[in-house]
This record gives sequence, C-alpha cells and structure tokens, in this order.
Amino acid sequence: MKALEGRVAVVTGGSRGIGAAIVKRLAEEGATVLFTYVSSEAAALALAREAGGAVVPLKADSGNVEDVRRVIATAIDEHGRLDILVNSAGVVELVSIDEATLEAFDSIYGVNVRGTFVAMNAAAKVMGEGGRIINIGSISSDVMPFPGASIYGSSKAAVAAMARCAARDLGPRGITVNTVQVGPVDTDMNREDSEWAAGVLRTMAIPRYGRPEEVADMVAWLAGPTSAFVTGSTLRIDGGSAA
Ligand SMILES: NC(=O)c1ccc[n+]([C@@H]2O[C@H](COP(=O)([O-])OP(=O)(O)OC[C@H]3O[C@@H](n4cnc5c(N)ncnc54)[C@H](OP(=O)(O)O)[C@@H]3O)[C@@H](O)[C@H]2O)c1
Repeated sequence: MKALEGRVAVVTGGSRGIGAAIVKRLAEEGATVLFTYVSSEAAALALAREAGGAVVPLKADSGNVEDVRRVIATAIDEHGRLDILVNSAGVVELVSIDEATLEAFDSIYGVNVRGTFVAMNAAAKVMGEGGRIINIGSISSDVMPFPGASIYGSSKAAVAAMARCAARDLGPRGITVNTVQVGPVDTDMNREDSEWAAGVLRTMAIPRYGRPEEVADMVAWLAGPTSAFVTGSTLRIDGGSAA
C-alpha cells in the first residue's frame, strides 16, 4: 500500500514549478490531489492528465477568500475528507523599501500571507487526526544577500511563524504544521539561466539550483505517516544558502 493511499490533499499554486512537482509526488504516493491555479489553465489541465490518478485542477485565486474556502469545501463535499494542505501559491516582486508601494505590499501579502491564513483557517476546521499542513516558505525570511526583498522576505517569515504558532493549536488534535523553507529552485520564479543566477550560486554551499522534485520529496515525507512527531518546524532545503 502506498504511503498516502486514501488521503485527500489540497495544494495551492499547483499548476507550475514547485507546486506542480508536489502535486505529482503526492499523487504518486496514492493521494487524491486537488490543486489550484489562476492563469496557467493549459498547464493545469495537462498536469491533471499526465499525473494520472485522482488529480483535480481548480481555478482559485489565493488572494480571494471565497475562492480559497470553496477549494477546502470541495475536498470535503466531493471527496469526504481533507488530510493534507500544502500552501505553495506564492508571488514575488523585488523592490527597494524606499520605492515599494502599498499596492505591492497588499498584493504580495494578499497571496503569500492572507491566502495562506485563509487556507489554514478553513482546513483546520475540517481536518482530523493525522492531518498535515505544510507551508512553502523561503530562506529569504532568514537570509537575503540581495536588496529588494523586504516585502517578500517578511511575507515568508510570517508564513513560517504562522505554521509554528498553529502547531500549538493543532498538536492536541494530532495535526502537524510545518514549513519547508526553500532556497534557489529552478522555476519560472527563479530561473537558473537568469542574469542573477551566478550571484545566487556564490551564496550557496552546494552551488547549483535545486529541482522542484527535491522540494516535493521533502513535502511528501512531511505529508506522510512517518513524520508524525515533527511539528512547528522549519525545514530548510536550500543547498546550504543559509549555512
Ligand atoms: N523558486 C524558488 O527559488 C523559490 C525559493 C523560495 C521560495 N519559493 C516559494 O515556492 C513557492 C512556489 O514557487 P515557484 O518557484 O514554483 O513559483 P512559480 O514557478 O512562479 O509558480 C507559482 C505557482 O503559484 C501559482 N499562483 C500564483 N499566484 C497565485 C494565486 N494568487 N492563487 C493561486 N495560485 C497562484 C501559479 O499559478 P498560475 O500560473 O496558474 O497563476 C503557479 O502555479 C512559492 O511560495 C515561492 O515563494 C520559491
């Protein structure tokens, strides 16, 4: 029997990059996976076809409260349960603190922090014993060797703190809450062939970009039965960027 057989998972931001790798990995482990997307409809539908098994794309904007609540409700109404929530939807905009606008702050926090809160809040109401909540954070919340990340880095610090604090709320119910804190990973958000990649590599103990599948492996372990004693933790996967 596969590790996640019979489990129902929701992955936000699953159409591309790290989220898509997580969707595939959880499905391989036997979970039914509902995942959200906003603009990458073709990629989302292709992923659902390729992943096989029970993979369900749902158009839902993490910046929209009703969208996010509807996804959690769909897991319960159509699949009978929710065991795993992975908050991977995230947006970044690098801008110096003296030039940053409230609009940028609101849009980044609206997805990265508010969207994560709404999903955790709705999921925590319906998850049972053995539940797993996993937030995708960023090492920029601890270490940022480049300018421009005050909004993004602080949004990811909030996400990690939210997981740590929620672990106290949900531990007595047998639900774990953790953050996977990601370093440079080759996705549309952070391409290894970009002009800034050489500078990024100089900050790393292992000077290469990570693969989305490597992050998905860590998430799959956290989502599974053998991680039951791990909660309130921030697990780094960053090639030693923060070493
Ligand atoms: N790549 C890195 O180096 C790195 C490093 C540290 C942390 N992270 C974090 O890892 C997570 C995944 O990043 P990635 O690199 O895979 O990014 P990506 O390649 O840009 O993919 C972002 C994903 O999030 C979805 N998304 C964006 N805004 C959304 C919204 N409002 N509602 C729902 N979904 C939304 C996108 O869906 P659509 O295309 O359908 O809109 C897409 O599936 C993010 O939280 C990011 O902050 C990444």
